Amino acid sequence: MQASAEPLPTRAGVPPVPPAMSPDIDRLTRDFRQLISDFEVLLKNAQTLSSEGAAVARAELTRKREAAVPDSSSKGTRSSSHSSPHLTDVATLRQRARSHIEEGAVTPSYGADRDTVVKMLNDALATEIVCVLRYKRHYFMAQGLSSDSVKEEFKQHAAEEQDHADRIAERIVQLGGEPDLNPANLVARAHSEYVEGTSLVDMIREDLVAERIAIESYREIVEYLDGKDPTSHRMMRDILAVEEEHAEDLNSLLLGLKAN
Ligand SMILES: [Fe+2]
Ligand SMILES: [Fe+2]
Repeated sequence: MQASAEPLPTRAGVPPVPPAMSPDIDRLTRDFRQLISDFEVLLKNAQTLSSEGAAVARAELTRKREAAVPDSSSKGTRSSSHSSPHLTDVATLRQRARSHIEEGAVTPSYGADRDTVVKMLNDALATEIVCVLRYKRHYFMAQGLSSDSVKEEFKQHAAEEQDHADRIAERIVQLGGEPDLNPANLVARAHSEYVEGTSLVDMIREDLVAERIAIESYREIVEYLDGKDPTSHRMMRDILAVEEEHAEDLNSLLLGLKAN
């Protein structure tokens, strides 16, 4: 840009810039623009470096987190928190299966206290047997106008409680225990009670109370077994779901009888 011979226009009250100073202003303006341009480049570079630094820091954090997770492969357990699970190698699995072979289904990785589980299951077994006996009694004793449908419900429940008892007894044997079916101990060990009831409504109400007791106690057993004994846990969870259905059935029967 060439120097102007004329003074630059100014606002009122500001002295005009002498023509001799104009080239300096142009140069300063160019230098200033260059500085701004250089600063923008520097700023962009700094942002890039910052972004790369954050990525490096994230990668380092992930590496440290992964290093902090204990390696469970040496204990023969499986980890579910990684994309590639730690599975016990075949040789170790074969060697462990051969040791303590007399323990049947109970292998070294069994996570619960076996005696505690057998005791719990025996108490549940007693509960089921008492429920079978009570439902059988109610089935044979049910009388009255509405008794037919109620009798069928009692009969079905008795059969399902018997199935529960059989499944629990089988599991106790799998765990190396013995199902306690001694009649002298059944009522004392059962969670629910044996109440005969005098009328149809009485019987249904007592069965409902017994189911509610079983539901509470089985829920605790399911919680205890969670993560320790998957097979017993699944079995008791399935049985618990049926007891909840029984309670719902009985509640519907009670409401139906009261409405009539
Ligand atoms: Fe049951
Ligand atoms: Fe039940």
